[in-house]
Amino acid sequence: KIIILDFGSQYTQLIARRLRELNVYCEIHPFSKTIDLDESVKGIILSGSPFSVKDESALQVNLDAFIGKVPVLGVCYGAQYIAQKLGGDVVRSDHREYGKAMMSIDRTKDDLLHGLGSHTQVWMSHGDTIKVLPDSFEIIAHTDSIPVAAYRSKEGAYAKPIYCIQFHPEVTHSLEGKALLKNFVTDVCNCPCDWTPASYVEQSVAELKEKIGDDSVVLGLSGGVDSSVAAMLLHRAIGDRLKCIFIDNGLLRKDEFEEVLVSYEGLGLNVKGVRANDEFLDELTDVSDPETKRKIIGRVFIEVFDKEAKQLDNIKWLGQGTIYPDVIESVSVHGPSVTIKSHHNVGGLPAKLNLQIVEPLRMLFKDEVRRVGAELGLPNYILSRHPFPGPGLAIRVLGAITREKVRLCQEADHIYINILKESGWYDKVWQAGAILLPVQSVGVMGDERTYEFTIALRSVNSVDGMTAEWSKLPHEILAQISSEIINKVKGINRVVYDISTKPPATIEWE
Ligand code: XMP
Repeated sequence: KIIILDFGSQYTQLIARRLRELNVYCEIHPFSKTIDLDESVKGIILSGSPFSVKDESALQVNLDAFIGKVPVLGVCYGAQYIAQKLGGDVVRSDHREYGKAMMSIDRTKDDLLHGLGSHTQVWMSHGDTIKVLPDSFEIIAHTDSIPVAAYRSKEGAYAKPIYCIQFHPEVTHSLEGKALLKNFVTDVCNCPCDWTPASYVEQSVAELKEKIGDDSVVLGLSGGVDSSVAAMLLHRAIGDRLKCIFIDNGLLRKDEFEEVLVSYEGLGLNVKGVRANDEFLDELTDVSDPETKRKIIGRVFIEVFDKEAKQLDNIKWLGQGTIYPDVIESVSVHGPSVTIKSHHNVGGLPAKLNLQIVEPLRMLFKDEVRRVGAELGLPNYILSRHPFPGPGLAIRVLGAITREKVRLCQEADHIYINILKESGWYDKVWQAGAILLPVQSVGVMGDERTYEFTIALRSVNSVDGMTAEWSKLPHEILAQISSEIINKVKGINRVVYDISTKPPATIEWE
């Protein structure tokens, strides 16, 4: 594997994504974590950082722990840090170099740079400049404005080479960045590119068998991609000793409970479907504060799940569909901290059940979860589903919840999603759903005056839900959705389309 030491750059996860695209297994570690340099570690990459190496509070790492012992690639801050620590000189430049630059390669046959064009476009984003290289290092590429765009330890100076680059190879504007990373991994580190969905399944099934032994595991399915893929992996490892619970909280999409339950059973999963609509809706009726809604749903979910899990024998483990972005210890400018996803609705579950946790997707990014799911034979119907919030329609019926409002929201959403699917737009957008506003307005139906609710349509394009743009759905599609909702769903007389980006808006309205 390759270890990426994170110094807090916004691009650190992108480095990991690029390596994974090359079928290379890698892990992101905070810069402050001691690296266990066992033989599985084939190379180390030092990320960029919002800090300057000249800052007093610049993030520090003990280079002696790995320099010369495994191949190293320093990127941006990583490159400046290594230059400075090994005896070179880094200075603050008076302007920040930001954007595309043309780099000229001086050593075209070098292990890191071979195969790249002799002039190649790279992406720069730095304020400091390397003025003097440490002894035993040499320049391998430059641009018009910076003499040291890339440098390396001289052949034989260290047992394992040290490479440093001032630009960001992980950003697509560095047109040959991926080729450079591939050279680093394969030619400099001799790290195999054999980490594929198939190999992941094989390795993970073996590990799960070993870890779980003869015990049984309980897992809560949500209908979403992550919990479904986690279940399939566990099922491959321990068969019917995986017991799944799928709870209908009354806030799912129209007919979703029945449809998804049938798909799960078709996949051979041992699933118990639990209808708990009333438990949830009784407690939610007339509640309007979003955070209170989330708390109630989290608590009732734990109660219902606990009751069901207690009826199962020999359960020692709780399976969860946690994925890599949820567990990466992120480095912030305020020092290292663990990011806790604010949307963790059932965070209290493990403690309450007193079970050990098994998270088979803990090291995977979302797109990898989908690829592993496909490898395991999950149908596209499940793999390509849009994200859906844990509290479901409770946070899409704005304001006070009633059963009737949930039903209106379900009906409108059903029409909306079906038209997206029929028109081919469902797969082109990242997430879509209908939101029932607590606003009544006047309309006319035939000769009658109506005073009914409004539906807001939300559809966004996004990579990870952290930022999002509203989808540019064609007007004809919007027109079709609007008239079908207003004609068919009695109680709704107005449809609007949300054209806000995140930030500053969010994807959900609550
Ligand atoms: P926001 O509204 O924060 O949503 O822009 C980002 C993504 O998170 C989902 N979301 C939730 N997921 N529990 C969840 O499991 C929640 O409480 C929750 N709130 C928002 C949202 O659907 C989007 O995909």
